[in-house]
Amino acid sequence: MRPAELRTKIFLDSGDPAETRDALDMLGFLDGQTTNPTLVARNPYARQRFEKGDKFTEKEIYDFYKQVVTDISRLIPDGSVSIEVHADAATTAARMLAQGREMSGWIPNAHIKYPTTAAGLEAAAKSVKAGMRVNMTLCFTQAQAAAVYAATAGAGKGAVFVSPFVGRLDDIGQNGMDLIGNVVRMYGSGDGHVEVLAASIRTLEQFMQSLALGADIVTAPFSVLEAWAKAGKPLPDKGSSYDAGSLQRIPYEEFDLSQPWQQFDIVHELTDKGIERFGADWQALIG
Ligand code: E4P
Repeated sequence: MRPAELRTKIFLDSGDPAETRDALDMLGFLDGQTTNPTLVARNPYARQRFEKGDKFTEKEIYDFYKQVVTDISRLIPDGSVSIEVHADAATTAARMLAQGREMSGWIPNAHIKYPTTAAGLEAAAKSVKAGMRVNMTLCFTQAQAAAVYAATAGAGKGAVFVSPFVGRLDDIGQNGMDLIGNVVRMYGSGDGHVEVLAASIRTLEQFMQSLALGADIVTAPFSVLEAWAKAGKPLPDKGSSYDAGSLQRIPYEEFDLSQPWQQFDIVHELTDKGIERFGADWQALIG
């Protein structure tokens, strides 16, 4: 059962429908699931083929991804399932949009993941105008989240997610939880058309802090959802604190959300590295 006071939607971060089923059984509810190329590559069937050196063709890998999200979608038909486009540094907005259109047709409850780059934002702007739903991934700064808001202005509630990555910021010594808090605060003065999806969550503490900060959604690996379930699905106490240890704090910045998205400085090295890593994990499956 879903805790009555729980305001944040709970997503599973996984490319394996068997985990969707287990998470549903364990929690008694699940609001959605996020996938990405790395998570699909970690799916047991994909891993088995990889270990045997039995590579997929380009068509086979897309068919496999389609099957994975179709299976997930059937398990959580009222939830959201994020599907990520394949992109490298040179992929154009038109190419991303073409993939997004195709993937949107795979299941009725898709959110299409585009990277938070100029090409990704252009694809997202066109996608929401065409009635598609998007999840802007690899977000590492408040300026990128501001650009997502501006690029998708006019979209309906629930049509746009932004995914700030907590764990990967922690990996470079910055307190990723601050980014969640800053984006939630910045959007507080907006019209609510972008939902904050706390991503790259690795610990129960980060999961709990996402609830405490009022993230609209948190996505977490099965192990973190299991730890939460085992603890009795607690909600954060009022005034609960988060120990950022020696991580550098990320200060809040003032942005004008009504300015054109092209005017925000959206470059971040982790966005570029993330695109490379997702691309490499995907390509490793293809022969
Ligand atoms: C989800 O949408 C993200 O792709 C995922 O949370 C990234 O997690 P990672 O940083 O642990 O790879």
